[in-house]
Amino acid sequence: MVSYKELGLVNSREIFRKAMAGGYAIPAFNFNNMEQMQAIIQACVEMKSPVILQVSSGARKYANQTLLRYMAQGAVEYAKELGCNIPIVLHLDHGDTFELCKSCIELGFSSVMIDGSSLPYDENVALTKKVVDYAHQYDVTVEGELGVLAGIEDDVHAETHTYTRPEDVEDFVKKTGVDSLAISIGTSHGANKFKPEQCQRNADGILVPPPLRFDILEEIQKRIPGFPIVLHGSSSVPQDLVKIINTHGGKLKDAVGIPEDQLRQAAKTNVCKVNIDSDGRLAMTAAVRKVFVDSPEVFDPRKYLGPARDSLRELYKHKIKEVLGSDNKA
Ligand code: G3H
Ligand code: 13P
Ligand code: ZN
Repeated sequence: MVSYKELGLVNSREIFRKAMAGGYAIPAFNFNNMEQMQAIIQACVEMKSPVILQVSSGARKYANQTLLRYMAQGAVEYAKELGCNIPIVLHLDHGDTFELCKSCIELGFSSVMIDGSSLPYDENVALTKKVVDYAHQYDVTVEGELGVLAGIEDDVHAETHTYTRPEDVEDFVKKTGVDSLAISIGTSHGANKFKPEQCQRNADGILVPPPLRFDILEEIQKRIPGFPIVLHGSSSVPQDLVKIINTHGGKLKDAVGIPEDQLRQAAKTNVCKVNIDSDGRLAMTAAVRKVFVDSPEVFDPRKYLGPARDSLRELYKHKIKEVLGSDNKA
């Protein structure tokens, strides 16, 4: 058993409390490899932002859970070396079993998500409570979820949103003891968050998605005031990146995300964790495709992964400063 405290990591309790009081949100960025980790830490140190490093089950399959944990430990030292000891949380994204959460906690994760959102309500309560009871013995914080996001999430695919029912949240939080709650108010995973027929086209022909359900968020806040809320599926799918990808051999059709102004509005409320993965994938892909097309003689991975890392760092800095407001909050 390794305690995350020995690794220099923190749980999410204190950073969420400060985020709520200050009207901003903490970025939760997924990572699968060294370049993503470097970009996250460089951006967060430069902006002096706390950060949540997220490990999904896809990341665990791709890169190995143990290696990723050591990389997070390295990230703590790397941030210090870059000159700012920012708070860093190592978080399991979309944990689906008690055993997985337990193994991450034993390995040194400081926060876990138990995603029972696709289970019947009572089973979600029971599973979440079991994880909370275990995690809290080690001062590890737990995120639960109520409501189902549309889109693809690992192997689970939901056609439509099942919005979180505000009438359930108080009971869920009380019965489970979770530290934060992910809700469904219209965000979804991936780069194609909405079907074209769900959107309107603006004057430039760009798809404009339906707005987030701030009415549901407000109702939830009334029922659990001061409780940390999490938004998954919060990539904005920047159209300039989609354009670079598509003009350099890519084929992304009807890619559409959550407008940044809506996320900025959400970050001022009790929403204190915002999950962003797909936008980072787009930034890296655009940069790599550009090098391959513009410099076909390149075959040194550093020559295309380097620019991908730089582009990712700039994207994260933008999110921190212009969308979430977590700059200078470390
Ligand atoms: O919630 C989904 C995240 O974007 C992670 O996706 O399992 O493909 O790494 P992944
Ligand atoms: P995006 O696909 O919108 O980046 O969402 C990521 C996420 O919610 C990870 O849990
Ligand atoms: Zn998610």
